[in-house]
Amino acid sequence: MILISPSLLSADFAELGKEVRNVTRAGADLIHFDVMDGHFVPNITFGPMILSAIRKYSNLSFEAHLMIDHPDKYWRQFSDAGANIIGFHIESKINHWQLINDIHRQRKKVCLVVNPPTEINVIKRFLPELDIVLVMTVNPGFGGQKFIASNLKKIEWLNTQRKKNNYSFLIEVDGGINYQTASLVKKAGADIIVAGSFIFGNRNYKKVIKNLKCC
Ligand code: DX5
Ligand code: ZN
Repeated sequence: MILISPSLLSADFAELGKEVRNVTRAGADLIHFDVMDGHFVPNITFGPMILSAIRKYSNLSFEAHLMIDHPDKYWRQFSDAGANIIGFHIESKINHWQLINDIHRQRKKVCLVVNPPTEINVIKRFLPELDIVLVMTVNPGFGGQKFIASNLKKIEWLNTQRKKNNYSFLIEVDGGINYQTASLVKKAGADIIVAGSFIFGNRNYKKVIKNLKCC
């Protein structure tokens, strides 16, 4: 069964703790925390102090999706604040091998993220070391954008690589998820779906999460 990771980007920021508790009770499997610095993407969200404040509202794993210029400089603060999974972009100009090793040394999970314009085979050499590969299906920065279907090929490619080489990474998809696109990414081989506006834009979180799992 597919796992659901609600993105807090579309939650009610004035009630963030309560929102985390509500999606947890509604059947979420992970909590997705989008960090933006106004440089790597043209938007600014929240930092480690906010993560630390809402951490106690759920026992689920938190994933910090770092859309920032220097994930190598800041990941540890998110890890200390309670993130279990650290996601950073192949497009960040950093030493990716070093960061993968550093995160694993802290016994946290590594998620490597790929933007829509980036060819998926540029991450081939990292695949054996990864816990999760996150395929962006919108250009990062904002919730509520339209799913870019050409990225489905990347999910299929990752699924083939995984089977062929016996890799253990999970495939996650982020951006433009609704019932229709959830069914497409599932067919392509995804294991985890991030959904922001589609979950938080609906009053009945339980019903949306349940339907996303089985559509
Ligand atoms: C986009 C973020 C996503 C975003 C998805 O930059 O990484 O996690 O919240 O939002 P929806 O599900 O509305 O496309
Ligand atoms: Zn995200």
